[in-house]
Amino acid sequence: ELEAVVFDLDGVLTDTAEYHYQAWKQLADELGIPFDRDFNEELKGLGRMDSLDRILEKGGKSFSEEEKRRLADRKNGHYRKRIQRISPEDLLPGMGRLLRELKENGIRIALASASKNARTVIRQLKIESFFDTIVDAAHVSKGKPDPEIFLTAAEQLGVPRTNCAAVEDAEAGIRAIREADMFAVGVGTETAMKGADWIVSDTSKLTLQELKRRFR
Ligand code: G6P
Ligand code: MG
Repeated sequence: ELEAVVFDLDGVLTDTAEYHYQAWKQLADELGIPFDRDFNEELKGLGRMDSLDRILEKGGKSFSEEEKRRLADRKNGHYRKRIQRISPEDLLPGMGRLLRELKENGIRIALASASKNARTVIRQLKIESFFDTIVDAAHVSKGKPDPEIFLTAAEQLGVPRTNCAAVEDAEAGIRAIREADMFAVGVGTETAMKGADWIVSDTSKLTLQELKRRFR
């Protein structure tokens, strides 16, 4: 029986996946490395350093650890500029309703985001009080597609993993959910979300009623 829902943040609760894309694109342009939306799909859900490594590898560039830290900071500056004005209106369609439905029905709610900016974004969206636990990059050692972040969320909620559903928009995220033995809900195209137990083309289709019906 469904007891908890674990949410990814970027691209699921709000469209910060677009801002991550724009910020990486800006950095890649500065470095003269080709970067497009297709390649960006592979980066979704990965941590900041993992993403940077993939981009530098693609551009055939190598930098010292110190230089890489500066590049990662620079990307984060590009990103933070873009998230400054996020407000409750930036919640993706249906997500405010879903969070309320879950609360009203006593289903526990967790956040599992690889982003070090997750708290800032959640606060700006004014949805912090919905979450029974927030697991972010500071709490885990292995990033998605490793299941650690989802398993940590279930553990902190005190809910068996098989009674959890998790919502993701990234390939790496869907893999992590499946490895965690949870019910995987994918937001996106059939191709990108391949392997998910339930795929929705956009967040407005995510209702508690439908989730309960599909939950194994
Ligand atoms: C999420 C996003 C990624 C991002 C990562 C790290 O997983 O999907 O695109 O790279 O968080 O975010 P941060 O804000 O810490 O750079
Ligand atoms: Mg995401």
